[in-house]
Amino acid sequence: MSAPVDISQEQSAKAALSKMRILIVGTGGRLGAALVREFDGKFQVTGLNRTQLDLSDLRAVREKLGNSSFDVLINAAGFTKVDLCETQPDRAFLINAQAPHVLAEICGEKSSRLIHFSTDYVFDGEKREPYTEEDEAAPISIYGESKLAGEKNVLAAQDGNLVVRVSWVFGPDRPSFIDAMIKGAQESERVDAIADKFSAPTYTHDIVEMLPQFFERGVDGGILHFANAGQCSWQEYAQWALDCCYDAGQPLKVRTVGAGKLENMANWIARRPVYSVLSTAKYTKLTGISPRTWREAVSDYITRFYTKK
Ligand SMILES: NC(=O)c1ccc[n+]([C@@H]2O[C@H](COP(=O)([O-])OP(=O)(O)OC[C@H]3O[C@@H](n4cnc5c(N)ncnc54)[C@H](OP(=O)(O)O)[C@@H]3O)[C@@H](O)[C@H]2O)c1
Repeated sequence: MSAPVDISQEQSAKAALSKMRILIVGTGGRLGAALVREFDGKFQVTGLNRTQLDLSDLRAVREKLGNSSFDVLINAAGFTKVDLCETQPDRAFLINAQAPHVLAEICGEKSSRLIHFSTDYVFDGEKREPYTEEDEAAPISIYGESKLAGEKNVLAAQDGNLVVRVSWVFGPDRPSFIDAMIKGAQESERVDAIADKFSAPTYTHDIVEMLPQFFERGVDGGILHFANAGQCSWQEYAQWALDCCYDAGQPLKVRTVGAGKLENMANWIARRPVYSVLSTAKYTKLTGISPRTWREAVSDYITRFYTKK
């Protein structure tokens, strides 16, 4: 017989969680916007976009956040333009590494927890099975290097800080690869996507849902990988998106995604890892929950945001 659930204990834990003050930085972005939108009403949420807090102005960051009160600071901001990072390395390190360092220092002073987002691009992509948190990071781009430096700065500041690495983020708040593919299939006669680069898409909604499990200070910090389950190439990802659109009654000019090759991406400046699937075994071990598959997540996204009204 299973142990009786203590409802009063569960309710008071929920009530305590709802009183938590969550400050989110980077709310103009795909993930930051989703966090604010979906946490609103569940926690005491404050959000800051780039106009309200420019991470490249470290003094302003110290001043503004030093005078704010919060239990958890979530940093969803970043210089995410992978190719631009190659030509603007100083800016990449300023926003992706130095600013997180300042955020971590501020959290340390306030005994608040910092949850900082990072990327599968900290890996070189040479492995052929999912990367775990223990695998050595060896970035092959300035973006990856600057994000890895940011991770180290955040983790060095205090024990409870959490770095969440995600991959191929998609969601309704800012168009990404998947939306570009759908638009392409709606407007042109031909759509191609790279067939020899592999990772797993991560739905912002699923990140938002899982994150509160890590708000409490009792939960260990460190590095955590999170992505939807499974793996795919960009071609498979795009093909599934078109299949879901077709099933949802979306008009498409083309239904099949052609296979592109990484070596033909002549306009890319930065190198990208060929294989960067993140293992979520640690997440499942900690929470007892397995992320749903990327196919389910993409299907859910298309049903919710592309289905004809
Ligand atoms: N997108 C992906 O596929 C992906 C994959 C792996 C990891 N990640 C990581 O996930 C996190 C969230 O990414 P995302 O997909 O939400 O990216 P995003 O849509 O590009 O959002 C990043 C946000 O950071 C803001 N930002 C840039 N420079 C800033 C500055 N100086 N001060 C304040 N804000 C600044 C951007 O402002 P603007 O709105 O003005 O541009 C944008 O709102 C990042 O840490 C990223 O590295 C993303």
